[in-house]
Amino acid sequence: MLKVHDLAVHFKQKSSFALWQKSSPLRAVDGVSLEIHENETLGLVGESGCGKSTLARAIARLLTPTRGTIHFEGKDISTCPEHALGEVRAQIQMVFQDPSSSLNPRMTIEQIIAEPMVIARWNKKKIAARTAELLDLVGLNHTHLQRYPHEFSGGQKQRIVITRALALHPKLVVCDEPVSALDVSVQAQIINLLKDIQERLGVSYLFVAHDLGVVRQISQRVMVMYLGEIVESALKSDLYALPLHPYSQALLSAIPRPKPGLVRQRIILRGELPSASNPPSGCRFHQRCPSARAECAEQKPLLREVAEGHHVACHFVQ
Ligand SMILES: Nc1ncnc2c1ncn2[C@@H]1O[C@H](COP(=O)(O)OP(=O)(O)OP(=O)(O)O)[C@@H](O)[C@H]1O
Ligand SMILES: [Mg+2]
Repeated sequence: MLKVHDLAVHFKQKSSFALWQKSSPLRAVDGVSLEIHENETLGLVGESGCGKSTLARAIARLLTPTRGTIHFEGKDISTCPEHALGEVRAQIQMVFQDPSSSLNPRMTIEQIIAEPMVIARWNKKKIAARTAELLDLVGLNHTHLQRYPHEFSGGQKQRIVITRALALHPKLVVCDEPVSALDVSVQAQIINLLKDIQERLGVSYLFVAHDLGVVRQISQRVMVMYLGEIVESALKSDLYALPLHPYSQALLSAIPRPKPGLVRQRIILRGELPSASNPPSGCRFHQRCPSARAECAEQKPLLREVAEGHHVACHFVQ
């Protein structure tokens, strides 16, 4: 359904020294390829600042890519001008981290849910019917419709945001850290809601999170991102059972184990995420990698398939 090839998003930066000096762009996303199939959830993980949100926004075409293509149902949407994006906007919806800033405090819940349908010029009868259908789907009460966002808890607000995102029957919902601002019990409710919606409607998700435990609960496949690039991608079961890239191993070693007594050696990474405007040569992870060797600083490892459906970008994974 969605096929992204060699996608890059570079941000221009102003030089802090002299106006005439050109500074190199910030390469937030740098050559990402991925596919999302119908009725599938692709998880995207990586530490803060690695480019997850930028990639998500580019796929939803809230940003224009610097390079690469995005094919959605066979059509290249990467170069579509803004005015031609109408249909894409309906088909690819986004859910953000903070539900409070996604909801207009002066609108009632009914107005908020109806907004995309009003913009799509649906008639009142059709909007009312769809609103009733949506409320049943997400488990919101009809009596909630006349209330305002501030009268709801964080979890309920995110439920409302999800309801609005589903109004126009989207095929793909891009969720950028949708549960990161919620407490753990509410997180589970929202994840179950998203799974239930997928079962009933067959929508696909790109699910972005920095919490690997959350991603595990919802995804079928998972991709690990580091400094604008994908370093590993695999079926969830393969990645969590046997992460192959040293960066994925470090990320996974930080998850608390459910069984007491089972000790996993925690891998502490050296240093911080390097600057995306001047990424390290060769493998971008080599300065922090516990198993780096001399050639890692010179040669860039390609993302290659090492087992069926399991791709890794590391020189030393066989
Ligand atoms: N509009 C923008 N203009 C300039 N730089 C940007 C812009 N948006 C993001 N960046 C930069 O791009 C890089 C990636 O940011 P991004 O928000 O995609 O990271 P992230 O992986 O989503 O992080 P987090 O987990 O904290 O949300 C960062 O260095 C950020 O400062
Ligand atoms: Mg982000």
